Amino acid sequence: MTKINIAIDGYSSTGKSTVARRLAKELGYLYVDTGAMYRAVALFALRNNLLDEEGELDGPALVDALPQISLRFVPSDKPGVFEIALNGESVEQHIRNLEVSSIVSPVAAIGEVRELLVRQQQQMGVEKGVVMDGRDIGTVVFPDAELKIFMTASAEKRTRRRLEELQGKGQEVTYEEVYNNIVERDRIDSSRAVGPLRKAEDALAYDNDNLTLEEQYQLIYQEVLRRTEVE
Ligand code: DC
Repeated sequence: MTKINIAIDGYSSTGKSTVARRLAKELGYLYVDTGAMYRAVALFALRNNLLDEEGELDGPALVDALPQISLRFVPSDKPGVFEIALNGESVEQHIRNLEVSSIVSPVAAIGEVRELLVRQQQQMGVEKGVVMDGRDIGTVVFPDAELKIFMTASAEKRTRRRLEELQGKGQEVTYEEVYNNIVERDRIDSSRAVGPLRKAEDALAYDNDNLTLEEQYQLIYQEVLRRTEVE
């Protein structure tokens, strides 16, 4: 089988990472969660108090601090599974809370942040065999990816998904808090000037309200086979 790059974009909590991780495992590919990279930069901003008097992100201060940030994916306890490390410390357990979620979209709207992370992501795909999920993978990171997927679902369905996930980790959050965060992130992610969330023209779109994750996975897997089978 020839190796390809697979770009999976879409709104938050649509199940992108579940599908991406399973595909990577099945194919023996590298899975890259680009949201984790933006979240790690947001965590750096919080930890270093790069906020203004109103508690909003201080963008220029973050841009100045970018040379101090090193991101790498390191092996986790689970075989074949990698997690994000910020300046040598694995921070997977610290990036999925509402505090980070509430600041990550402004972080991801900064052109200099995107340039830096997009460059690193492109390097990971040079040799193919990567499944990458995010918002701009099919449009900016890998515009030539052999397979592009775009996933959507209603804000209500995504809120229920994320709420279950957070409550499963013992975090105390309400439906309303999660819903507001998801809607606000959609708005910022879709309207930013650099690398906005949008479907690449040649991406296949899947709506999670009409398909189960299993049905979706099977459809996508067939598309992978069509593109990797030697003619
Ligand atoms: O997928 P996620 O919810 O973990 O992503 C966190 C945030 O990072 C999301 O609000 C948008 C941003 N992001 C981005 O702008 N570009 C990407 N390629 C991935 C994530």
